[in-house]
Amino acid sequence: MKNSGFRFGKALAFLCISISPFANAQQKQLDPPLMGWSSWNTYRINIDESLIKKQADAMVNQGLKDAGYLFINVDDGFFGYRDEEGNLQTHPQRFPNGMKVIADYIHSKGLKAGIYSDAGSNTCGSLWDNDPNGKAVGLYGHERRDADLFFNQWGYDFIKIDYCGAGQQLDLDEQKRYTEIVEAIRETANRPVSINICRWAYPGAWVKDLSRSWRISPDISANWGSVKFIIGKNLYLSAFAGDGHYNDMDMLEIGRGLSQNEEEVHFGMWCIMSSPLLIGCDLTTIPEASLALLKNPELIALNQDPLGLQAHVVQHEGNGYVLVKDIEKKRGLKRAVAFYNPSDSACTITIPLSTLELGGKTKVRDLIKRENEPSVSNELSYTIPARSVKMVSLEGKTRLEPSRYEAETAFLPQYNDLGKRSRGIDFKQVDEASGKMLVANIGGEAENTIDWNEVYSQKGGKYTIKIACMITTGERSLTDHKLLLTVNGVSQFVPLNTEVVNKLQTVEAVIDLKPGYNTIQMGSPYTWAPNIDCFELIKQN
Ligand code: GLA
Repeated sequence: MKNSGFRFGKALAFLCISISPFANAQQKQLDPPLMGWSSWNTYRINIDESLIKKQADAMVNQGLKDAGYLFINVDDGFFGYRDEEGNLQTHPQRFPNGMKVIADYIHSKGLKAGIYSDAGSNTCGSLWDNDPNGKAVGLYGHERRDADLFFNQWGYDFIKIDYCGAGQQLDLDEQKRYTEIVEAIRETANRPVSINICRWAYPGAWVKDLSRSWRISPDISANWGSVKFIIGKNLYLSAFAGDGHYNDMDMLEIGRGLSQNEEEVHFGMWCIMSSPLLIGCDLTTIPEASLALLKNPELIALNQDPLGLQAHVVQHEGNGYVLVKDIEKKRGLKRAVAFYNPSDSACTITIPLSTLELGGKTKVRDLIKRENEPSVSNELSYTIPARSVKMVSLEGKTRLEPSRYEAETAFLPQYNDLGKRSRGIDFKQVDEASGKMLVANIGGEAENTIDWNEVYSQKGGKYTIKIACMITTGERSLTDHKLLLTVNGVSQFVPLNTEVVNKLQTVEAVIDLKPGYNTIQMGSPYTWAPNIDCFELIKQN
């Protein structure tokens, strides 16, 4: 299993030269989501040399290394102070022998080592855990010096870069600040380094160029409300992940008091959504059932699947969600599906196989119980208990052409969750919308679009596109709404009924698709576009 992050300098040049003749013939091998352990959830800043070494020992002894967990990540709490020359010193009592011995010890076990810092001057621990040693030890003004220390002198393979000092205290711009840091690391580190950006909200499409994973939520805690909240945050972010870069749902709280069903939701959803899997409990005392869940090879395989996809919501009716993703081969016959019930009462979830784009007698396997179930031919239907998930893999006989595309699964180039723009493009819950969700605030500038980058047509040809959308009353006059539809770079305005306001309407156009993948974009360069619910494609004869 390949677990390295960025390829720098010479390594990158070598890699490009060595694979380029075959680049088109082979499927690119992607870095999978990171798997390992992090000190934060259980110990916060109260860590030391012997504790970290014991966790590394337990990673091996508990069979977790063999299951694929490789990283031992030291989070906040190792800082000492910055000396007069600007050199970072480690905590004299907690890590009297420094941090290199820790990385060496971790490496001696065949594991990889992770470290932590802040984009600003002061760490989160200095703000929230009253850690006096967290002052002036962040990367701000010391990017290259610290990169040399962490990666070249100490030998760490991963870094999580937090934002407390940079955001709350210095009010820096996220994209600019993280770009400076990542460029410094790329230019300085002489080993592959995996980078995690920790801004506690989806920060924008730029983050994919800078990191292997990025946090999308505030800190997790060991209770159901927190797990459910973070899943909710990630439900519609699948288009922003991919190509070896992942939405980070934060460290696992498994083995820290959740019920069995809640732990299955937690692990199952982190796996199918391809989040990094960083265990957060004391590895020496994990309850047996939690350990077995963390080692479930079929769930881990979903997470580490070579396609590196995050499942998207394909149906949301009543309280139940159905999420799906391809596994092993894109548009092949195998798909993984989660039937997720976040509510506090049981619910029945039924979905036609055709909505999952599969046809014929379809094999079903329960990935939590690790048992085959009877094959199905028409639909899947399960009663899911409160706060529970059923995870299955399916293998159909045929793969069907999709006909409906939801707005909330599309790529939104201008979307972020930083809350800094009053009318930024956003998701909007509307009960009568398909999947109960719209994308709102599209248009106003040419770049503020909604993009489906993989609209699939088996044979190509002419299609009628039916677009469900909603004009909402806003600060501009209603006639200001326009809908520019662009298919594979060819644009047309689709007429809207401007009399229908705050209600769904369906508008249509005729488009040409080519065989294979197509791009469909909607927007309006000078006015608002309507909110978009979904579109359907109907092939013309
Ligand atoms: C922030 C991060 C946490 C953890 C702490 C350390 O809150 O989001 O994951 O790293 O800082 O202080």
